[in-house]
Amino acid sequence: MDLILHGATLPDGRTGIDIAVKGGKIVAVEAGIGASGAREIDVTGRLVTPPFVDSHFHMDTTLLYGYPRYNESGTLLEGIRLWAELKPNLKHDWYVEKALEYCDWAVGRGLLAIRSHVDTTDPTLAGVAALIEVREQVKDYIDLQLVGFPQDGYLRSPVGVENMAKALDMGVDVVGGIPHFERTMDEGDESVRQLCALAAERGLMVDMHCDETDDPNSRHVETLAAETVRHGLEGRVTGSHLSSMHSMDNYYVSKLIPLMVEADMQVIANPTANMLLMGRHDTYPKRRGMTRVKELMAAGLNVSFGQDSVMDPVGSMNTGDVLDVAHMAVHAGHLSGRDEIRACFQAVTENPARNLGLEGYGLDVGCNADLVILQASDPIEAIRLRPTRLHVIRRGKVIAESPPHTAKLDLPGRPASTEFVRSTQPPE
Ligand code: FE2
Repeated sequence: MDLILHGATLPDGRTGIDIAVKGGKIVAVEAGIGASGAREIDVTGRLVTPPFVDSHFHMDTTLLYGYPRYNESGTLLEGIRLWAELKPNLKHDWYVEKALEYCDWAVGRGLLAIRSHVDTTDPTLAGVAALIEVREQVKDYIDLQLVGFPQDGYLRSPVGVENMAKALDMGVDVVGGIPHFERTMDEGDESVRQLCALAAERGLMVDMHCDETDDPNSRHVETLAAETVRHGLEGRVTGSHLSSMHSMDNYYVSKLIPLMVEADMQVIANPTANMLLMGRHDTYPKRRGMTRVKELMAAGLNVSFGQDSVMDPVGSMNTGDVLDVAHMAVHAGHLSGRDEIRACFQAVTENPARNLGLEGYGLDVGCNADLVILQASDPIEAIRLRPTRLHVIRRGKVIAESPPHTAKLDLPGRPASTEFVRSTQPPE
């Protein structure tokens, strides 16, 4: 053995489990594994999870908060305008440097797989080339999957169609889109048709920003589901955001969700971004703009959560911790039942791993030894505390460590310190 973790609590509720690792793989998951000269870590009572996965991110725009100036309205449209101003001035090395810095943050948070959209409507495709380089540079510690994202519109941008093809030729993994940003509803639908055909032709997955609007009459989700079935892409197509579903009429949604099930559509909500950016034309009450997570999960769809942005021209408040977005989802979606909170933990771990098609992900024997030890006792507690990642392990090697977050106390008759952790298991 190379490494043994003793006394782990697993996300499925098993406790007192030892995990043995050899050659970068998990070779045993059971109680009572003895010492064998390997490095041993006592993780008694700590939650051990496979790594976090951010299924929706923009690594080309990240860490640009304040460039070329701050987004004073805090709106999506001002953010997109700022990005359009900034884009011609961004050079290869700046893209690379920012992305690598962000990846350092991600590792410290136990975030070891990221699907990032990358703008393909920059005529130079500098961001695409840079992130392809970054994907290679970080591959030993982060699985980075790239989606070609026509920010200015696949049909609306003069270079939209041509540059998507070029980006895919350069090695971008997934076909993206933004139908609600095309000039008309018809052109939005046409973009969905063309992009799904392109993905089918090239044998690629699709992940589209789809209806990131408050328009209850937007119908691009329906078109995406229908085109998925037409091309036999079931299970390989993701609808990201789907904010319009928040505002749609219930009767229409009762038709739409079964269509999505037929297409086995992958769903990604971006709870912090949706809460920040949607409902901006409302007075009171203000809509939340997060898609119908509870209903989509109940229908059996694979629902994941993403951050969308960290310190970029659109959004400034995310941290690189996907537990923040799970925490927001619990609140925004009224997902506060115990099973629902656990489902939110899965929406930043195993659900996105399935969406991205990560091989060897999980805690079974034979899986990659990619593990995160949290200063928390279970998934519910992890979302409540968004705790310190005590150890982050990739292929059996510890690649990040943090000391426990502890407050020293000086109180009469009270303990000398507290860790803030309290099990949410039922009392004995
Ligand atoms: Fe996005």
